[in-house]
Amino acid sequence: MSHKKLWSLLALLTLVVTLLAACGGSKATPAPEQTQAPASGDKNEVEVFSWWTGGGEAAGLQAMIKVFNQKYPDIKFINAAVAGGAGTNARAVLAARLQAGDPPDSWQGHAGQELIGTYVAAGQIEPLNFLYEKNGWLKVMPEKLIPLISKDGKIYSVPVNIHRANVLWYNPKILKDNNVEVPTTIDEWFAAMDKLKAAGVETPLAMGEQWTAMHLFETVLLGTLGPDAYNGLWDGTTAWDGPEVHQALVNYDKLLTYTNSDATSLTWQDASQLVVEGKAAFNVMGDWAEGYFQELGKTPKVDYGWAPVPGTGGTFQFLSDSFVLAKGAPHRDAAIAWLTVAGSKEGQDAFNPVKGSIPARSDGDRSLYDEYLKSAMDDWASNTLVGSLTHGVVANDSWKSEIDTAIGLYLSSHDIDQFQSALATACKDSGPCQ
Ligand code: GAL
Repeated sequence: MSHKKLWSLLALLTLVVTLLAACGGSKATPAPEQTQAPASGDKNEVEVFSWWTGGGEAAGLQAMIKVFNQKYPDIKFINAAVAGGAGTNARAVLAARLQAGDPPDSWQGHAGQELIGTYVAAGQIEPLNFLYEKNGWLKVMPEKLIPLISKDGKIYSVPVNIHRANVLWYNPKILKDNNVEVPTTIDEWFAAMDKLKAAGVETPLAMGEQWTAMHLFETVLLGTLGPDAYNGLWDGTTAWDGPEVHQALVNYDKLLTYTNSDATSLTWQDASQLVVEGKAAFNVMGDWAEGYFQELGKTPKVDYGWAPVPGTGGTFQFLSDSFVLAKGAPHRDAAIAWLTVAGSKEGQDAFNPVKGSIPARSDGDRSLYDEYLKSAMDDWASNTLVGSLTHGVVANDSWKSEIDTAIGLYLSSHDIDQFQSALATACKDSGPCQ
């Protein structure tokens, strides 16, 4: 080969390598802790998909990536996070990638029906019993969680945390200045917000975009029905078209009258922030809000207080973030390394104090967790447990999406009867009422 031809070939090769590297890079949000690693396509990398990009969420993930980078300095961590609370955007991107046969090595999936009724049902993830055996995880992962991540004796994910959904965050100063006690029942809550409204508090209850309306809705269902009847909604023993659900919808309808009119344009962070900034009295949000308040430098019990959503005292409405192994993962060994960190005590104790969640493992170091999280640990151990709808525990994707559509229609019509009949139909279409 002539010199000229050789140089042309080399130039072409360089171009191809550069283009390949650029393609890999576009999927990733480079993290500060990432090690300098080989270009995309090299076996020594792992692509992990989540929706933890925003306030309070990215910091938790980064803390776990840091542990990963210390343990596996030769594996490049590709942080393929897609913005948007509760995974609303990320899950659509993930679904498109799975459809196209281009799975990330590992992704965030909620324990419960989201995992079992979606990814396992579609045969998209690998069982991980071998990792549980190797790392002795069955001794430290809560017994109550294992059935939610298993099918036919196969365990399909590695839970990193437990979050609580039914938390009422409040601004202690607004309540004190107006002589309002923290409400424990839904009627007390209405009375408190009437008093605050009369005193000129513009936003008694802060709310954000539509998924946060679903989040509020599930807590009102629980607060009105109680844990047994709430659980019955998901196994067909409580009638969606019955009087209890009707009462829950009446309560929900009234609650919405206390919310901000710009809710649809606010993220969950925007809405929660109104409370710590003294612009709203209450907000109902999962305890990732606590991770955000910490990131904002706010002080527990001074800038924000917490209580179970009125009517739900003694019940812990939970969800669990877990990570899976893609079937056909492009970098299987590296993905197993990531999952090993996600399930480890060190990984979980780095991630959870920042994320605003408690470790899924039962042997977390309690001294690392703040006052709120210690109280969550105690409640998780002692309360009645029920699963979250918005965050994947009780309903599979198709049922949840039909409920979401019903909520969307109701939010514009405020027609309670139509809402209830759409909910009953959703259970017949996708749930246990079939
Ligand atoms: C949930 C997830 C939490 C948090 C929240 C807000 O679905 O489980 O970890 O990220 O969304 O984005």
